[in-house]
Amino acid sequence: MRSRRRSPLLVAALVAGLALAPAAASESAPSGEQLYGRYCTSCHGALGEGVSAGRAARGNPGSTGSSRHVAGPSLRGVGARAADFYLSTGYMPLLEVGQQPKPRSLGERLLSTREIDALIRYVASFGNGPPVPSPQPQRGNVAEGMRLFTQHCAGCHQIAAEGGYVTGALAPPLSQTTAVRVAEAVRIGPWVMPRFSERVISDDQLNSIVAYVLTSQEPNDAGGWSLGHIGPVPEGMVTWLLAAVVLVAVCMVIGRRGTRE
Ligand code: HEC
Ligand code: HEC
Repeated sequence: MRSRRRSPLLVAALVAGLALAPAAASESAPSGEQLYGRYCTSCHGALGEGVSAGRAARGNPGSTGSSRHVAGPSLRGVGARAADFYLSTGYMPLLEVGQQPKPRSLGERLLSTREIDALIRYVASFGNGPPVPSPQPQRGNVAEGMRLFTQHCAGCHQIAAEGGYVTGALAPPLSQTTAVRVAEAVRIGPWVMPRFSERVISDDQLNSIVAYVLTSQEPNDAGGWSLGHIGPVPEGMVTWLLAAVVLVAVCMVIGRRGTRE
């Protein structure tokens, strides 16, 4: 809505820009290639071939690099699927080598939606990778999804609405995620999250997981223990939740002991 209202202004600005400074015209709408050169080449290479940590750190000779071996992995064949996931979450562009990619809210994005679209097309052109998936949660079964989520995901993401602790990494809450992003994450396995092949989680099962995640987002508050929402939750689930809390507490204690030694 907003962008539509603004578009006549944008067009006017563009026309004015064209009239005054023809050379600046390409800057007002940079191509995917230009954006890639500006934001991504340093870690992923000019042709998406990937960059080793040593090469990326060359400007800083004192740096030992990260425990990971690359500044950025190769993007050849990762396709629109990974590009859409990493850009729409705001994980990319990463600002520092070796950092865990962090979600960025729309307000803190470095890139506009249009720039993201251009970049997705550009990254997809590196090789024939998978397209952006189109999950169909309406075909899924929420109860089955909950069972699968508990089995495969809850160890890190706990209940869909909450994030959890993984050693050295934070599993983000799924309260703001979308169907497409769940489908992408499950097949990609970002950061320390495992990647689930179709043999482990079939497309039908993935639809159920997506359906469950979306359903669990419905009590739409900031998260945390909201007793008002306990009512409809089955007793078994509450027990499980309590067990999960205890488990996380135990993990944190173990984690703290580990760092003291
Ligand atoms: C070993 C822990 C682990 C498991 C198991 C795991 N995840 Fe994740 N997940 C993560 C971490 C860590 C991230 C953040 C990735 C990053 O920082 O790049 C993540 C990210 C995500 C995201 C993106 C969040 C966003 O902002 O949209 C989704 C969606 C997701 N996971 C869904 C799932 C689902 C569904 C499953 C089960 C099939 C699952 N995860 C299993 C650790 C895990
Ligand atoms: C500071 C270094 C850095 C910069 C800059 C950067 N990336 Fe990344 N990129 C990474 C790292 C590290 C990973 C691996 C993250 C992970 O494992 O979750 C990654 C992962 C990705 C992936 C997923 C690859 C896969 O194997 O699934 C895509 C797609 C991606 N980046 C695109 C981009 C784009 C597009 C830009 C520019 C807008 C960009 N990145 C900028 C470091 C960087």
